[in-house]
Amino acid sequence: MTGDDDNDAGGRGAVLAADFRSVFGREPEALWAAPGRINLIGEHTDYNDGFALPFALPHLLTVAAAPTGDDTLTIRSRQADGTLDTTAPELAPGTVRGWAAYPAGVVWDLVRAGHPVGGMEILVDSAVPLGAGLSSSAALTCAVTRATSDLYGLDLDPHATARTAQRAENDFVGMPCGIMDQLAVLLGIDQHALLVDARSLETTPVPLAPGEDDTEFLVIDTRAPHRLVTDEYAERRWTCEWAAVLLGVPALRDVDPTDLPGALAALPENRLRRRVRHVVTENARVLETVHLLRQGRTRAIGPLLTASHVSLRDDFEVSVPEVDTAVDALLTAGALGARITGGGFGGCVISLVESGTAPRCTAAVRDAFARRAFTPPTSFTPTPSPGARSLRE
Ligand code: GLA
Repeated sequence: MTGDDDNDAGGRGAVLAADFRSVFGREPEALWAAPGRINLIGEHTDYNDGFALPFALPHLLTVAAAPTGDDTLTIRSRQADGTLDTTAPELAPGTVRGWAAYPAGVVWDLVRAGHPVGGMEILVDSAVPLGAGLSSSAALTCAVTRATSDLYGLDLDPHATARTAQRAENDFVGMPCGIMDQLAVLLGIDQHALLVDARSLETTPVPLAPGEDDTEFLVIDTRAPHRLVTDEYAERRWTCEWAAVLLGVPALRDVDPTDLPGALAALPENRLRRRVRHVVTENARVLETVHLLRQGRTRAIGPLLTASHVSLRDDFEVSVPEVDTAVDALLTAGALGARITGGGFGGCVISLVESGTAPRCTAAVRDAFARRAFTPPTSFTPTPSPGARSLRE
C-alpha cells in the first residue's frame, strides 16, 4: 500500500466521472473526495468528550452522484460487490447490510432531519484501505454527505456534516463511534495534525512537517483480521460512560489527572479503574504531545506514543498479537515510539523513527511477522494532507 498516486484528486475525479457515465449513462452532478485519516495519539478519548490528534492521509475515497428526480436510490462501488437499489423513504436501520449501509445511513439521517433529499445515483471509488483502522467508513459517509448537500442545496457546514456522518454510523449502521474521524476527514490540513476537542468540536491545527527534528512517521498495516470490533468498541464506550456516572462527572474528560488516584479509589472494580486510567492519562498525553510539537521537539513525543500503546494494550485491552509484535519489533529496531492507531482489535501501527530508518524498521517488522507466521504486513509514510474537497472546483 503506498498512497503515491492517491493525491491526484483531479485525475481520480475525471476517471470517476467517466465510470459514472458508463454505469448510469449520464453526467454526475457532484464529485467529492474525502481522505482516510490516521490518529497520531488520543485513542478512545473522543466519546469521552476528550482530545485526539489525528491527521488526514493522501489516500482518497471519491463519490460521484446525480439526483434521480424521484425517490429511487442506487448506490454502487468500484471495489465492493453488490448494488443497493431502494428508495429513500424505505430506508430504516437494519434494512441495509455491508458497505452500502454507510451511504444509505447518510440519506436516512438527512431525510429524518427533514431535509428535502430525494433519490440519487451514487458511485463510490476508494483507495482508503478497508478494515485497517484508517477511517474508510468516515471517508465514505463524509463524502456522501457533502455530495448530497451539494445536490440538494443543503449548505451543511463541516460540523453538521460530521454529525450527520456520525449519526449514519451510530443510528443506522449500529457502530457507536465518536466524532474524531469525521472531523479529521473533513477538516484535515496539509502538513498539520488537528487537535480535536470532542466536547466543543473545535479543531486546532498543529504543524507536523515531515523530516522535522530528523524524524519521520512510518505506518505499518498489520493486516490482522478485525475481530468483534463493533461489540468490543461498544463495550468500551458504555463502560466509560458508566464510570463517568459512578464518578458523578458529565464525561471522563472531566477527571483531572491530579484527581485520578481519588477517582480510581472511588470505583468498585479493577476493570473500570483500568479503563478510566487509560482515558485520563491518554488525554494528558495528547496535550503534552501538542505542547512538544509546537516547540519543534518532535523526537520527544516518541515515549508518549509508546506509553499510549502500553495503556491501550494493558488498561484498555484493545490490542492484538500482530499489533504488539509490530510495536515491539519497531522499538527493538530503534524506533523512537510506536503505538496502535484507531479503534483497535487489528489495524495499523503508527511509529516515529529516525529519518532514513523506515526501511530498516519495516524489515524488522516483516521478519518478526514471518517468524510468527502472520500475514506479511504492508507499510507507508503518512503525509498529513488536506481534508474533503469538491473535485468540481
Ligand atoms: C474509531 C472511532 C473513533 C474513535 C477511535 C478510537 O476510529 O470511529 O470515533 O473512538 O475508534 O480512538
